[in-house]
Amino acid sequence: MFDIECDVLEGLEPYALEEIRERFGRLCSSMTLQPGRIRALYAGELRQVLRLRSVLAAYLVITYDVPRPRALLGHQHFTRLLKTLEMVRSLSRPELYRTLRLSAAGEDSSVLIRLKETLAHHTGLAIAPDEGDLLIRLRRTISRDGWEVLVRLSPRPLATREWRVCNWPGSLNATLASVMMRLTQPSATDRVLNVACGSGTLLIERLFLSPARLAIGCDLDLEALRCAQRNLEAAGFAKVARLEQWDATSLPLETGSVDVLCADLPFGQLIGSHRSNEILYPRLIAESARVAAPGARMCLLTHEVRLMERVFEQYAGVWALTNVVRVRTGGMTPRVYLARRTTAPLS
Ligand SMILES: C[S@@+](CC[C@H](N)C(=O)[O-])C[C@H]1O[C@@H](n2cnc3c(N)ncnc32)[C@H](O)[C@@H]1O
Repeated sequence: MFDIECDVLEGLEPYALEEIRERFGRLCSSMTLQPGRIRALYAGELRQVLRLRSVLAAYLVITYDVPRPRALLGHQHFTRLLKTLEMVRSLSRPELYRTLRLSAAGEDSSVLIRLKETLAHHTGLAIAPDEGDLLIRLRRTISRDGWEVLVRLSPRPLATREWRVCNWPGSLNATLASVMMRLTQPSATDRVLNVACGSGTLLIERLFLSPARLAIGCDLDLEALRCAQRNLEAAGFAKVARLEQWDATSLPLETGSVDVLCADLPFGQLIGSHRSNEILYPRLIAESARVAAPGARMCLLTHEVRLMERVFEQYAGVWALTNVVRVRTGGMTPRVYLARRTTAPLS
């Protein structure tokens, strides 16, 4: 049985828990939620945890019944720790582990420096000042009568996707993209349109959840589309998805031809402006309503809460808002809006 802890974007805990339950069912027990964290006992293969798409990072937790970290240097505890590190490293390709990072309150104390150096010596890894491949966190147990060592199960956070070979300013956190697309209840018959797709995060994460009958990403910016193309290729979806230089407010698509629409809209800060959003949002919502089939699902992310809610009120006849999720990401608290196309015609 493994004691596992996952970091999750605040606000997404219930959705990450849902993914964990779906994937692992009875292999998981004693699940607890805290803001930004999920803890569980897991009786399955550790490698399977690396497949989770809605968690930022996953850790194996080892609890030591010791009063002070110094005791971890004792033979029995240190051997147990080294065995755990070996087991974790065996989950990924060996060349991905070059550096080690020990993160703890008071990590510059002489005891923790000694612990870090001894670990580096025995693992053959170089000490990294901030981002390390082998990330080890040390903290007190909640009851404060022992210590917990958390070892990250992957050399990079799970949110850092291998498919992201092209970075794009304002690109969406992939775990949030995955949850957004889960909310649309993916089906292999879906015709999916990711408007304002940027580097393609939503489209790619959608295709990891389920195949689609049609998958299109569109953006006005050619550079963004080139970036999305590279990412789609790296993800292995270049043949199943199309990218188009289309304006989201005037789409060359037939009325009622799309089942799922999604977008991470310009927030009006890094990308776009509030003034341009005042024009973009109502037009985009109206055009989305035109191309959406009756019952189509739409999932949007924005930080422009007041504007978005005003626009949804304006289009309440054609888009029925079914869920709003507040999420903390990149120092902001944007909202995910999930809506369903009614059968009413667009007037
Ligand atoms: C926040 S970014 C999307 C980032 C994307 N989710 C990613 O992960 O890379 C918003 C995108 O909207 C695009 N955009 C703005 N107005 C548009 C319009 N009228 N039609 C299509 N795309 C538009 C911008 O070019 C930009 O790429």
